[in-house]
Amino acid sequence: MKLTEELRKSLRIRVDYTNMTDKYIPNGISDKRLDAHKKLAKAAHAYVAENRGKDELFMGWTELPYNQNEIVADILATAKLVRRKFDNFVVLGIGGSALGPIMAFNALCHLHYNDLPKSKRKGPKFFVEDNVDPVRMKDLLDIIDVTKTCFNVISKSGATSETMAQYLIISDLLKKAGVSVKDHVIFTTDAKKGNLVKISKSLGGVKSYVLPDGVGGRFSELSPVGLLPAAVLGIDIKAMLKGAAYMDKLCKTPDLKKNPALLCATLQYIAMNEGKNIGVLMPYSDNLKFVSDWYAQLWAESLGKNETLDGNPCNVGQTPVKALGVTDQHSQVQLYTEGPDDKVVTFLSVDSYQEKTPIPHGCKDIPDVSFLGGHTMEELIQAENKATAHALTMAGRLNYTIHLPEINAFTLGELLFLFELQTAYAGAMFNINTFNQPGVEAGKKATFALLGKPGYADKKAELDAAAPDENYIV
Ligand code: PA5
Repeated sequence: MKLTEELRKSLRIRVDYTNMTDKYIPNGISDKRLDAHKKLAKAAHAYVAENRGKDELFMGWTELPYNQNEIVADILATAKLVRRKFDNFVVLGIGGSALGPIMAFNALCHLHYNDLPKSKRKGPKFFVEDNVDPVRMKDLLDIIDVTKTCFNVISKSGATSETMAQYLIISDLLKKAGVSVKDHVIFTTDAKKGNLVKISKSLGGVKSYVLPDGVGGRFSELSPVGLLPAAVLGIDIKAMLKGAAYMDKLCKTPDLKKNPALLCATLQYIAMNEGKNIGVLMPYSDNLKFVSDWYAQLWAESLGKNETLDGNPCNVGQTPVKALGVTDQHSQVQLYTEGPDDKVVTFLSVDSYQEKTPIPHGCKDIPDVSFLGGHTMEELIQAENKATAHALTMAGRLNYTIHLPEINAFTLGELLFLFELQTAYAGAMFNINTFNQPGVEAGKKATFALLGKPGYADKKAELDAAAPDENYIV
């Protein structure tokens, strides 16, 4: 994609927060209230600006749009080889090591990509195995030939039970099939430490990409975690990075009315403090459906904390809910409109879909149906998006819209960087550690103990002691 300045501007994502304001919502946010948060927003902006790139604070992700020229070149070369050699590309990873690749695949590839004939696909069939459901594993193995498959094992720690169990299964199968494990795996992991580094050495040096020190899983989509799978799929990863850099540029200003990520963070912060404990993300696009899954992890794991940076107790965060327009209009919107007033709904709207799909004239004797003829499906979905925002507004429910001019690699890069900055700003406003996940680690450790990992005897004893004396199970 050749990106002139004019094209960048035309692809700029915009935030319309009209329906968050007291002009349209009785309990909406007044200009005065927004202005009263200017100082806090400015401080959050300064915190992120001052600490960007700092590995020790896990803020290395801010530099990913700028510091990967060599890595990108290497990834593109590897992707070309993978496309030539393999029929399938399988990501083994979970959480931050899976949700980004799923999001980009779904957003930028054909919605039935794997069902297309080879000649119509830009790359091999693509799968992301982010669970350890044994049925799912078996079903995958039923449809792929491991000898024609490249497995991208993505794990920063190389110690995540789910990913490593999958690795053990596929390496065993590769050995049994008589092929070299080394030639069928690519690792994305820490530079020096972790089990994948050890495994790579024992296999004689596996092709590996580094998940940089200062980049946590949920902020890693623009690192090799996301870039390699995207490149294998033929996605323009350079455009994705340029989109992120463009959003970064738009967010240089501490003026919250000009900085889209700071504006969204401040609106959400105000809403959360007023009891809006649920944040619904509702894209009106099947391609953007999995942006909600990726965002849910980013927002939930980053903000769900019980202690401030000064060590004071707190219980902050907002429960992310994933919805899809228009599908969930016929499911959840009733609740959003008339149920508890505890939500902020964020719409992702697309100004121009790749397809318009005209609706032919027909059923002319049935006006209830014939009125649709002559319109397009694009008009229909956009009308429904507008109508739902209007209905929520009429019901006094906070909502705002992020407009994507169209869906492409550049705008996806913009969108994900907007959300990452928004999360960093919101975390700074709450004065919490946005980048750790002690709650996730706790569960990982308990699993280790239950399955007998050495060094976890105390945890096992704690789990045994916690077992109830009586059963309350019916
Ligand atoms: O955001 C995170 O840090 C987590 O979701 C991790 O990505 C996830 O737990 C997987 O960890 P790892 O990459 O070490 O296998």
